[in-house]
Amino acid sequence: MLERLERLPTDPILGLMALFRADVDPRKVDLGVGVYRDDEGETPVLPAVRRAEQNVLGRQTTKSYVSAVGNAPFNQAMARLVLGEAHPALTADRVRSIQAPGGCGALRLGAELFRTAQPDTVVHVSTPTWANHVPLLSGCGLKLEKYPYYDSSTGGVKFSEMLGTLDRLPARSVVLLHASCHNPTGADLSDAQWRELLEVCRRRALVPFLDLAYQGLGRGVGEDAFGVRLFAAELPEVAIAVSCSKNFGLYRERTGCLHVISQTPAQGDAILSHLVRIARSIYSMPPDHGAAIVLEILGSPTLQEQWSEEVGAMRKRITGLRHELVKSLAKHCPQRDFGFIGTQRGMFSFFGIDTAQVHALRDQHHIYMMDDSRMNIAGLRADNLEYFAQAVAQVLRVTPA
Ligand code: LMR
Repeated sequence: MLERLERLPTDPILGLMALFRADVDPRKVDLGVGVYRDDEGETPVLPAVRRAEQNVLGRQTTKSYVSAVGNAPFNQAMARLVLGEAHPALTADRVRSIQAPGGCGALRLGAELFRTAQPDTVVHVSTPTWANHVPLLSGCGLKLEKYPYYDSSTGGVKFSEMLGTLDRLPARSVVLLHASCHNPTGADLSDAQWRELLEVCRRRALVPFLDLAYQGLGRGVGEDAFGVRLFAAELPEVAIAVSCSKNFGLYRERTGCLHVISQTPAQGDAILSHLVRIARSIYSMPPDHGAAIVLEILGSPTLQEQWSEEVGAMRKRITGLRHELVKSLAKHCPQRDFGFIGTQRGMFSFFGIDTAQVHALRDQHHIYMMDDSRMNIAGLRADNLEYFAQAVAQVLRVTPA
């Protein structure tokens, strides 16, 4: 039976990761997979995480199961981190949360929940969106459609086209929104645009599904959740998939959760009962280690303070790199305006070169970015930024688009 299966192409992000690892050139630059890197090119364990982990391991007396919703105090602490203390949805007991294996697990749980409630649900995703959104959301049978989003001529958002499209959708359409640090473009909505979008969602009875994977890496921990907090306060139904991979640096621990806001506590209980059944039928229960670490941090004012500083340092490094990059590109490639990189947020930007140029950067200069020219800004370092800008200048000269 299994002989029928033909080999599939490698996942583009994971495939690029393997190509980079296999490159032995000491000048190589990894702008591919979205992991934060420091100025040594490392993705270190955050010191707050290291301390929390030691506390957790020192106290742990059992590896027995935790519970069907995972670590419930972690879920509650995450709801407060995401929504802010005393958010109206929390005080009205309208939030139900389940721990998930990473943000991906949370996205899939949300998709399965929508399919259970309404099998012909259509999920609308931005053009472009993170490549893995497509299999995660459509894999359970939901239909996906696209709305306009990125404006390559400005490096910003085609906001009126986006609103125009969403304003024609039927009620109970699900709209997947990147809460901040849009992956792959880095182009985010302003607070004023979130407010306008809220009115469209309200008027058309749309259900926002917010993907919050970079809280703290864009403008700030609270600022990056602006849209999430607004929608959760104002709309009857909202789902929020949260990842702790980037802001807690817990990538391989697969730590995340799904929050669902509904109209009443009784509806919330019904929703949670379905989520528990869905999780049980896929993987039963999520891994505990990362959640226990995050709970340890969020439960201790000292550790939380330390973590906030560490997230702040990551954010500042990324923002600083964006500005340095714009300056260096202006010096080496004066014929092109890369100023948009400085106005975007988070780890990613669409660099705006074609695939042949991306491949020339890879083959001739050992610089790795996605074929669509998505680059992870955090992969740059003080000592290779100039090398990168010079390589880009050379490639633009030799293979003009
Ligand atoms: C990325 O976009 O590179 C990250 O979110 C890692 C992944 O799993 O794709």
